[in-house]
Amino acid sequence: MLYTYTDGLRRERVAQLFHDKFGSEPTLWARAPGRVDLMGSHTDYNLGYVLTLPISRDTWIAARPNASRMVRLYSANLNEDASFSLDEQEKSVSKRWRNYVQGVASVLQAEGLRTDGFDAVIHSTVPLESGLSSSAALECASAVVFQAIGGWTLAPDAMARLCQRAENEFVGVRCGVLDQYSSCLGEEECALLLDCRNLSTRPVPIARGMQVAICDTRAPRQLAAAEYALRRSQCEEAAARLGIRALRDITMAELSARANQLPVEVRKRSLFIVAENQRVLDLEAALRSGNRAKIGQLLAESFVGARDLFEICSPPMIAMMRAMLEAPGVIGARQAGAGFGGCMVALIEQDRAETFRAAVAANYRRATGTHPEVYVVAAAPGAGLLPEMVRA
Ligand code: GLA
Repeated sequence: MLYTYTDGLRRERVAQLFHDKFGSEPTLWARAPGRVDLMGSHTDYNLGYVLTLPISRDTWIAARPNASRMVRLYSANLNEDASFSLDEQEKSVSKRWRNYVQGVASVLQAEGLRTDGFDAVIHSTVPLESGLSSSAALECASAVVFQAIGGWTLAPDAMARLCQRAENEFVGVRCGVLDQYSSCLGEEECALLLDCRNLSTRPVPIARGMQVAICDTRAPRQLAAAEYALRRSQCEEAAARLGIRALRDITMAELSARANQLPVEVRKRSLFIVAENQRVLDLEAALRSGNRAKIGQLLAESFVGARDLFEICSPPMIAMMRAMLEAPGVIGARQAGAGFGGCMVALIEQDRAETFRAAVAANYRRATGTHPEVYVVAAAPGAGLLPEMVRA
């Protein structure tokens, strides 16, 4: 399935909203995708590997320069307005979504890049707060708008790093580099293998006949922020005790030999990360060759590790894992994102997508009483302007 830029209805709707809000037409359209990780939970901040898929659900920003220092925003998803001056550094407490755009402006300015005011309507098909990086999509789409209006050009990897900085330093979330890299560096029809040590990527085609389905538990990720920070500090503690820079720097054989030097929880976290890192490379090979049995096995091992060693799986995720594995057409399934609820991911047979979707919905509803969302997605290109919609 090819990702297509042109979604006429969506464009019409956003243009109409822009007209209602600002009384004119947008002059440029930016987009940036969300992402789902196919393998590599929490490996990014351990400087390891991630196999990530920039997805065909994205954030659009329709914008028009307003010849001022004000950025005036309307979120179509939240039906909320927000604005800020490019000369102010105060975060918004009541409209936290504004901070992603303002944070990007702030780091661009710190880099000496020109930022100008604009009016914009933001419209996203990335489900919000469900582990698919809606915040990175908003940051990266904002960076594209600032770039187009400011008249400078950043390479996609530099843009990704600046957007990560916006999230780390301005928004105040200590995420790794995965989300912004995925959003900026996507390639059509390919997953990306990201090496978080040297920040290189290589495209990994998904074997013919396979498709990615994202299954949203719709369980709130309330504990996610605190638990994420805890996992991160446990991994750092492991590296410090082992005398290495990051868990990327130890093999499973070495770790097994020294595991008794680590406190129990830190040991469990390390065992997961080191095995997960290897699974990323193994999954790359299995996806290239289309080895379905191996894919299923690797994804299942990842889930067991996430549940028993890294301990990021909540009861709704365990129910969703079962619902996915019992659905027709499934090749493999596992957790996604930071865990603790939110979305999970399955590789499925392309021609069974509809039956898979219906079966997951029925299985999960029966087990939990909640209706899940299932999104069948394609690989999408990285952040940029929507070419055919650029106006002179
Ligand atoms: C969140 C973070 C990423 C990454 C994942 C877990 O999405 O933003 O940097 O750590 O969790 O793999």
